Amino acid sequence: MSEQPQDPQLIDNPLYLRRRERADANKPPMRSDPLGAVAAVRYPGSSDRNEMMAGIREQDQDLVEGHFGTIHYKPVTVAGVELKLEPIQPSIGTIIHGIDLAVDLDKPGMVDYIRNLWLERKALVFRDQNHLSRQDMVRFVEYFGEVGAPFGEREHVPNSPHDMNQQIKDPDIPDMLILPSDETVPNAASGWHADATWQVRPPMASILMCREAPPVGGDTCFCDCYGMWEGLPKATKEKVEHWNAIHIGSVGHQMDGVTPKSVHPVARTHPETGQTALYVQQGFVKHFAPEHEVPEGEEAKLLRQMKLQEGRLEYTCRVKWEPGSMAWWDNRCVLHSASGDFWPHRRFMERLTMLDADKSRRTPYYDPERRPS
Ligand SMILES: [Fe+2]
Repeated sequence: MSEQPQDPQLIDNPLYLRRRERADANKPPMRSDPLGAVAAVRYPGSSDRNEMMAGIREQDQDLVEGHFGTIHYKPVTVAGVELKLEPIQPSIGTIIHGIDLAVDLDKPGMVDYIRNLWLERKALVFRDQNHLSRQDMVRFVEYFGEVGAPFGEREHVPNSPHDMNQQIKDPDIPDMLILPSDETVPNAASGWHADATWQVRPPMASILMCREAPPVGGDTCFCDCYGMWEGLPKATKEKVEHWNAIHIGSVGHQMDGVTPKSVHPVARTHPETGQTALYVQQGFVKHFAPEHEVPEGEEAKLLRQMKLQEGRLEYTCRVKWEPGSMAWWDNRCVLHSASGDFWPHRRFMERLTMLDADKSRRTPYYDPERRPS
């Protein structure tokens, strides 16, 4: 029998137990899951789980922590705090060095500065924040918006047994989604998506804190949906500009056995920047709305064209986690995906969703008049 789960609340979870059966039978993670595929590449020719784990650990055992080399960053001083802003990619992602989120957000002008930077860069990463408690993470969200339920708005709260993460609760912070992954039951949201777009009013943003990071792998990637829209062929943009698409949750998002579903515009106007984002992410979107009467073949072709935009290198940044790294991204214009490549190492993450404090901006819409000139 393998060791105890990372969180004791998982001990009775049916999905956890099903996955654990593979571990107890000494079978490696399924290759249909990238975690299993990468493990098979790193330790080829074996289907003995214990042997693979030992082999991969041996490959990684000499890794040490350290920083070296040169980075380009922009030094700025905000409210007396010296920040170093490190762009991750030209169009998306900035790592902010030098801020202490437990104290610096109270300084005059800091919240406005960080919010404007976030709107421009779409995803921010703060290093060295492991001293923040879960309650401090709630406070962070409250500086910029409203704390959402684990999947955003509170009218649909999934209770499906087909999702382990929902079953783990911190009684003091029930809104937090706790995301463990260990050698027995590895788990990673690898696949492009924005959080809970199957909600009628999907969460504006999410924050993700890393408490335990693998020595290599388990990065999270962020993709700029403005770039995805701009990159579509002109004829496609003209065709789909005023269409809607149907976003359907997965079985793990069911509430009382009912799978959630919402209809949202294909081109989404960002309610703060006015820029247009492609709001089709094929984790949750399989069809356009029926009123467009798109023939099946054409629908598949258009969805394929959009899919090719997901994760294009030019619109995508990759964040390497360290314990205490916290990311904050804008679900209105960013897709994200975990890199499921780190088994048998452990990874432990905590997520909160953030709702727009301005309720009038929560429902996705398209208004070409708002585009910045
Ligand atoms: Fe997610």
